[in-house]
Amino acid sequence: MIAPSILSADFSRLAEELAAIEGSDWVHVDVMDAHFVPNLTLGLPIVESLLKVTDIPMDCHLMISDPDRWAVGYAQAGAHNVTVHVEAATDPVRIARDLRAAGAKAGLSIKPGTPLEPYLDILPEYDTLLIMSVEPGFGGQSFIPEVLDKVRTLRGLIDTGHLNLLVEIDGGINADTIEQAAEAGVDCFVAGSAVYGAADPARAITALREQARS
Ligand code: DX5
Ligand code: ZN
Repeated sequence: MIAPSILSADFSRLAEELAAIEGSDWVHVDVMDAHFVPNLTLGLPIVESLLKVTDIPMDCHLMISDPDRWAVGYAQAGAHNVTVHVEAATDPVRIARDLRAAGAKAGLSIKPGTPLEPYLDILPEYDTLLIMSVEPGFGGQSFIPEVLDKVRTLRGLIDTGHLNLLVEIDGGINADTIEQAAEAGVDCFVAGSAVYGAADPARAITALREQARS
């Protein structure tokens, strides 16, 4: 699965930028609060508007402090998958249950330097595990290959029946990096600059998908 990130889109033409990726599996929406990360993007009112103009399942990546308070609103608005950061969440089990009760998939994200092991016990509460392969905050950064160890650990647990979730990766995914991520066991690839920086976003999605399969 490919999830183009609208962080690299033209924010003055978001409806058109969504139309340009029609047919993608998910659309990834980065919510940043200038507190959990040093950047500010958009929040629930804009997500609600975007949900009205697209049928692409929306993947909301909340890079915000206090997701315990805000996450469920995105699920109630109709986001398909809502991801919170484990570094920001006070009660991640409660958040996951609230998200699922509101009809969304529950996602948990971990930053490049955060170990996976302390959180393995709560992963059955979640549908998606988003491995950050750059420091969250900005598009266009370089892929950190060391995070693939976490992907391999997860893939092993999934393939042996100990876990059941989708492994998503976010940051620096492009034609040069997608194959190694696919090999490590990623299911869903977020790509911002590699899609919206391309002359033809739809063609870029197809090319990335084929590369991931090869
Ligand atoms: C970064 C965001 C990413 C970003 C990825 O904090 O979470 O979703 O859009 O952009 P690229 O694909 O350009 O690294
Ligand atoms: Zn993201």
